[in-house]
Amino acid sequence: MRNLAIVAVALNALSFVSATTLARADIDLVLANREDASPPSEGVVNATQAQLNSCPGYRASNVQTTPYSLTADLTLAGTPCNVYGPDLTSLSLQVTYETASRIHVKIADSAGKRYQVPQDVLPRPPSSNVDAKQAAIRFNYTTNPFTFSIIRVGKVSEVLFSTSKTNPLIFEEQYLRLKTTSLPPNANIYGLGEHSNTFRLPNNNFIRTLWSRDAYSVPPNTNLYGNHPIYFEHRTTGTHGVFLLNSNGMDIKINQETSSKTTSVEYNVIGGILDLYFLAGPSPAQVATQYAQIVGTPAEVQYWALGLHQCRYGYTDYVNVMQVVANYSRAGIPLETMWTDIDYMYKRRTFSIDPQYFPLDRMRAFISALHAAGQHYVMMVDPAVAYQPNQNYPAYDQGVADNAFLRVANGSSFLGVVWPGVVVYPDWFHPNASNYWTGQFTQFFNPNTGLDIDGSWIDMNEPANFCSYPCTDPFGQAILQGLPPPRKTSPPPPNAPIVITKRAQTASGPNLLFPPYAIHTATQSLSDHTANTDIVHYGGVTEYDAHNLFGTMMSVKTHDALLARKPGVRPMVITRSTFAGAGSKVGKWLGDNVSDWPHYVNSIAGMLGFATIYQIPMVGADICGFGGNVSQNLCARWAMLGAFGPFYRNHNELGSVSQEFYRWPMVATAAKNAISMRYRLLDYIYTAFHQAHLDGSPVLNPLFFKYPQDQNTFGIDTQFFYGDSILVSPVTGENAVSVTIYLPKDNFYDFLTYAPIQGTGSMVHLSNVPFTSIPVYIRGGAVIPLRQSSANTTAQLRQLDFEIVVAPGVDGSASGSLYIDDGVSITQTQPTTWVSFSYKSGTLTASGTFASTNKVATVSFLGVSRAPKTVQVNGQRVSSYSYDSGKKVVKALVSIPLSAGFTVRLG
Ligand code: GLC
Repeated sequence: MRNLAIVAVALNALSFVSATTLARADIDLVLANREDASPPSEGVVNATQAQLNSCPGYRASNVQTTPYSLTADLTLAGTPCNVYGPDLTSLSLQVTYETASRIHVKIADSAGKRYQVPQDVLPRPPSSNVDAKQAAIRFNYTTNPFTFSIIRVGKVSEVLFSTSKTNPLIFEEQYLRLKTTSLPPNANIYGLGEHSNTFRLPNNNFIRTLWSRDAYSVPPNTNLYGNHPIYFEHRTTGTHGVFLLNSNGMDIKINQETSSKTTSVEYNVIGGILDLYFLAGPSPAQVATQYAQIVGTPAEVQYWALGLHQCRYGYTDYVNVMQVVANYSRAGIPLETMWTDIDYMYKRRTFSIDPQYFPLDRMRAFISALHAAGQHYVMMVDPAVAYQPNQNYPAYDQGVADNAFLRVANGSSFLGVVWPGVVVYPDWFHPNASNYWTGQFTQFFNPNTGLDIDGSWIDMNEPANFCSYPCTDPFGQAILQGLPPPRKTSPPPPNAPIVITKRAQTASGPNLLFPPYAIHTATQSLSDHTANTDIVHYGGVTEYDAHNLFGTMMSVKTHDALLARKPGVRPMVITRSTFAGAGSKVGKWLGDNVSDWPHYVNSIAGMLGFATIYQIPMVGADICGFGGNVSQNLCARWAMLGAFGPFYRNHNELGSVSQEFYRWPMVATAAKNAISMRYRLLDYIYTAFHQAHLDGSPVLNPLFFKYPQDQNTFGIDTQFFYGDSILVSPVTGENAVSVTIYLPKDNFYDFLTYAPIQGTGSMVHLSNVPFTSIPVYIRGGAVIPLRQSSANTTAQLRQLDFEIVVAPGVDGSASGSLYIDDGVSITQTQPTTWVSFSYKSGTLTASGTFASTNKVATVSFLGVSRAPKTVQVNGQRVSSYSYDSGKKVVKALVSIPLSAGFTVRLG
C-alpha cells in the first residue's frame, strides 16, 4: 500500500468524512469490507443466513458432570449442510468453572487434531475448579439440539450469551459459526479490535474483521494491524466479557434482530476451534482484571518510557537527528527519547547501518551523549530481512545458516517486498528463531561495540509485504516500486530461487489461499500484501492459522532479545501488530494515522481500546499525525491530548512537513503546558501502570467505567480518565476554541487552579479554550501525588519532591496511592515505596511502605469551605499554610520525608 501513500493521504477523508474525492481503487478497498462486496477470489461460496440456519446443529450425549465441569460429545444432528465445506460429525464439549467469575467453554473436534493457538504463544490460565454453585455466572444447555447459554445469577438474573436452535452451531473444516442472539437491543459493545471505529461499536449491520493488515491511514470499518477477539458488553445491571481464543481470520457480525428485538453477535471463523471464556464482571474494571487473568497482566514499563518521544521517517543523517535533539533543548521542551526510523539502515536493511549517513563511531558518540544528558534512544527494527545471498550481510547469512526464514512448499525462502526491496521473513515458530533474533540484537546493538539502544521499535509485522498476491516477481516489483531508493539498478541474481506462490490444492484438502468463506478483509485476499497463507511454519503450523500471531511472536522474541542484552532490565518494545496477550511483554502504537482532525479525535477511541480492553496500556497514536501535513492548530491540540496518552510520541511520515513541537511557537507553548501537567502526574500514572501490572486494572478509563449507571456516559469517547481520576476533555472541533463536554453528577476540580466544579450530569459548554490549553479536571474522591514541578528529563523529575492533592468526593472522603521503585529493574533489589492515601473528616493519612528519599513539600486540600484554624502534621502544628476562599483551597507547606507514614489534619 505504501506506493499508494500519497493517494491514501488525500483519500483518508474516506475514512471519516466523505467519499467525494476518491479514486476508484480506494473505493474498492472500502467496499471490500461491506457485506455485499464479494472479494474477487476463487472457490468462495456465498451462503445466505437461511442456508446457514437450515444446518442440522449438534446433539449432546454422554454428558458427564462434576461440581465444576461438564463434558459431552456433540454429534451432528442431521444431514450435513456442508455450506462452506464438510461439517465435522463429532465434536467435544468441555465446560469448566475456572474461577467464580470465569467459565471456559471449549468446543473442538473430538480427535483434538485441529489447530489451536499454541500454548507458548498464549499460555492458558490455570483453573481453580470452582463449584458451579459458587459462580457468578452459570452455563445452561439443552442436548437436542445442543444449545447453551451463559446466565448471570444472584441479585440480577440475566442472559449474557445464548445460542439457539434457529441459529444452529456450524462446525466445518474451514468455517465455524456461533451466534448469540440474547443481548439487549442496541447493546453497548466495546472491543473486538484492532479498529478505528467509535469506542462503543456500531450495533447494526456491522462487521468486525480480524486479520492483520498493513493498514495505511487506519480506515474505520476495516481490519487493521492487530487482533483482539474480546468484547465487553455493558448494561446498567453489569458488564461482562466474552473472549474467543482463536487466531484464525474471522468476521464478527453485530446486528439488531428484528424478530426478537435483541442484539446478536455472530462469529464466522475460518479455522481453529471455539475456545470461549465468559467473564462475569460485574463492574467494567472487574471484566478488565478478569481478562488479564487469561492473557496476562501488562508488562511493567520503564519510568523514562513515559517521557516525551520524538520520531520521524525521513531524518536524513545523524547530524539531522542530533539537531532535532538540540532544537528541543533550545526550545525548552523536555525531550526524553529520540527515535530513528529505517533511515539509519544501509539500503534499509534491518540490522545494518549506513556507513556514510549514520557512521557507527559517530552514532556511538551521539548515543553516549544522549545517555550522559539523561536521555534515551530507540531504533526501528523490521522483521523482513533483505534477500542478499552471498553479500556478506550477517542478518541474512545467519538466518539462512539457522534455517530461520519462512519457506514455501518447495523449500525455498518465501520472498516478499518491503523497504529494502526483496526480503525474506523470520519463521518465529522455528526452534532457531530465538537464537537467531537474540544473536542479531546482541551483536548489532552491543552496548560496547554497536548501538546502545534503550528500546526497540518493531514494525511491519503483520507481516507487511508491498507485493500483492500472487507475488510472482518480487524482483520486478522491487524495481517497479523503487525499493530501496535510489532505485536498484542491478538485475536480480541469476541464481534467484523459483518462487512458488501458489500450491496446487487437493480436492479434499483445505483451501488455505481462498477458503470458501471469504472474510471481509480490506485486502484483495488473505495472502494479499502479506505472507502467503499456504506457507507452513516450522512444526507444521500454517500461516493460514497463525497469521494473526506474527506480530506478537516477533514482540516476544524482541522482548527476550533485549532482555538477553541487558539482563534484569525491563525491555522497552513498541510494536505495530498485536494479538491477545501481547501487552504482557510489549507496548503498541496505533500505526499510520493521518494529520487531520478526525484522526486526532479518533485516537482517543484507539487508545481506550488498548489501554482499557485489550490489556496493552502502553499505547499511543502518532502525535500530530503520521501521513499528510499537519497544521499548527492541530499539532498544538494533539501535543496536549497526546500528553494524556500512555505512550507519548510525535511521529511523522517521509515527505510530510516537519512537525517537531518547536516548529511553531504556539505548538511549543501548548506542548510545554501539557508536558508540565504530564510530568507532574508521572508518578500518578506510573502507579497506575504498576497496579495494571499487578492485576490488569485499566490505565485509561472510559467515563462509563467510573459511572456505570449513567447512560449518558456509555457512548462517550472524546473524553476519558487518565488513570483513575484525571478527567481529560480535549477540544475536538476543527480549529475550534470551545468544546461541549459531559460532566457526570459528581465533584470535580480544575487541575490547574484547583477550583471546584460541580458536575450535574449534563453537557457543559467551555468557551475560550485557547490552542495552548486543554481542559483537565480531578475527579472528586481522589488523592493525587504530583511532583512539585516539571523537569527536563524524567531522571531530574525523580529528584523532585511531591505535592499531595486531596480532592474530596461527594461523601467528603478521598483516596489514592503512590508507587516508587527504581524505574527500570524487573526485580527490585532496593526497598520500594507503596503508599495508600486516605482522607476523611479533615485528616489525610498516608500508610504503607516507605523507602523514598523524596519529601512531601506541599499538601493541598481542595473544596474546603472555611479557613482551617490549624493544620497539623503528625499532631504537630505547622504555621505555613494559606487558604484561598475563592477557590476553596488550603495549601500547607510542609516537609515530610517519604520514609514513614504520616497524617496531615485540618483543624
Ligand atoms: C511504517 C510504520 C511507520 C514508519 C514507516 C517507515 O509505515 O508504520 O511508522 O515510519 O513504516 O519505517
